[in-house]
Amino acid sequence: MKHRWLFGTNWKMNKNAQEAAEYASILREKLLCMNLADAVQVFVLPPYTSIGIVKQLSGGRFWVGAQNMHWEECGPYTGEISSAMLAELGIDLVQLGHAERREMFHETDSTINKKVLTSLRAGFRPLVCIGETMADREFKVARDTCARQLRIALKDVSVHELERIILAYEPAWAIGVQGLTADPSYIQDMRFHFQTVLEDMFAADLSGRIPILYGGSVNAEDAAELLLSSGMDGLFVGRAALDATAFADLIQSCLLAAGMQS
Ligand code: PGA
Repeated sequence: MKHRWLFGTNWKMNKNAQEAAEYASILREKLLCMNLADAVQVFVLPPYTSIGIVKQLSGGRFWVGAQNMHWEECGPYTGEISSAMLAELGIDLVQLGHAERREMFHETDSTINKKVLTSLRAGFRPLVCIGETMADREFKVARDTCARQLRIALKDVSVHELERIILAYEPAWAIGVQGLTADPSYIQDMRFHFQTVLEDMFAADLSGRIPILYGGSVNAEDAAELLLSSGMDGLFVGRAALDATAFADLIQSCLLAAGMQS
């Protein structure tokens, strides 16, 4: 195994503070019992209103991050949140460029790049989401779309900042209730393509160190197969991880399948 595995969940616009606190306490206890050591890193992205409580209750057992942030430090940006505000909450990572942000809130590659650079300056780990739409796939430009997203998102990232980058490959057509299940060989193929793009941007030994997660309708039944057959560095889960016990079970199913737990 090249990297340790990462298992993350984005709660999107779900859970009030009390539900968030219950989730954090359960997940902390479950992870404690699983005795994961360094082989696995888990992270949770609550809504802004619950980041503080989840971080407090995480007991250091999992990372806590934000689902988005603005690229400016402060100013007239109604409804936005800055890296300095998130730093006060002690976040470990920040998700940038999720497919729902790109589609519903018209985020562009260049604003995502600004956010990546700001988040690196703030000391965070940017979790950069890339992925093609169904139309891209049908027009056979999925690779071009992802390459463009990658090249622009990581423009001007320095070599020493590279080790903090985490990528999530989430094809938009696989996300959500209507999402289709991706084939592990398709995911693996895309992963090889990303590696080529990254090697062109950065030195091969450096780009090989960037973890790439898969996300999009991952569930307890197919998680282990998706992870092991695709050779990705972890999974990024939405609906199937909205329950803390279900999330812990999903992680455990992967470890069992990999022979990392008995
Ligand atoms: P989903 O969401 O697992 O509910 O499809 C995935 C995501 O948007 O990260």
